[in-house]
Amino acid sequence: MRIDVLTLFPEMFAGPLQTSILGRAQVNNLINVHVWNIRDYAQDKHRIVDDTPYGGGAGMVLKPDVVVRAIEHVKQDRTAPVIYLTPQGKPFTQSKAAEFAEQEELILLCGHYEGLDERVREHWVDEEISIGDYVLTGGELPALVVIDAVSRLIPGVLGCCESAEFDSFQDGLLEHPHYTRPPEFRGLAVPPVLLSGHHEEIRRWRLRESLRRTLTRRPDLFDAWLASRQTARQLTKAEQQILEEIQAELSRERR
Ligand code: ADE
Repeated sequence: MRIDVLTLFPEMFAGPLQTSILGRAQVNNLINVHVWNIRDYAQDKHRIVDDTPYGGGAGMVLKPDVVVRAIEHVKQDRTAPVIYLTPQGKPFTQSKAAEFAEQEELILLCGHYEGLDERVREHWVDEEISIGDYVLTGGELPALVVIDAVSRLIPGVLGCCESAEFDSFQDGLLEHPHYTRPPEFRGLAVPPVLLSGHHEEIRRWRLRESLRRTLTRRPDLFDAWLASRQTARQLTKAEQQILEEIQAELSRERR
């Protein structure tokens, strides 16, 4: 997969892209990230990239001619979608990451200051994405978040031991808890079932903890999971039984 990033701060990308799994994915040619400096497309002698907003007010706006020159140079005759990172965009979710991971190419456009001239958003941007309901100083960290979440879904990027298959969100539920050695740490024991070697019971315990965790921490995700299972009539006997157990447990705790 090829990802082009347009930014005023290319230096923000070097560390994260060279480190750990993303670094290895690039060395192995599974992802190729090209970072372009929008300032290189300014044509005046001071390389100015922004200007004051028409109508007055605070902040500066990225100049459309500079940004469009950058987009056109990077895009050339490719069909790669241009994604603009902005708090006004569609929420970035695991399913959005999976959708992007199917693409061969992406162009990520990072805004700064007050943002982009609206004409660029309307005519040169294909999709706007937000990584959450908070405002950052620019689109660089969001672009890195998108690159990270998308890259790890590309076949071969994660080793077998780092598989994305059982991730939180992958099946709409939060992941079960994890433990490692020692079996007792400062008087705190690992749940005995995990030491039992009984694979079916471990699987059931993990599903139970996953459902319990999702229900208590993210009722919104739980409701969506339940609704999708019920419409597909896919709730297994074991799941039904576990849900009843959890409900009973929670109502006991509430009393
Ligand atoms: N730029 C600034 N804040 C952002 C956010 N929350 N998501 C995407 N881009 C942004």
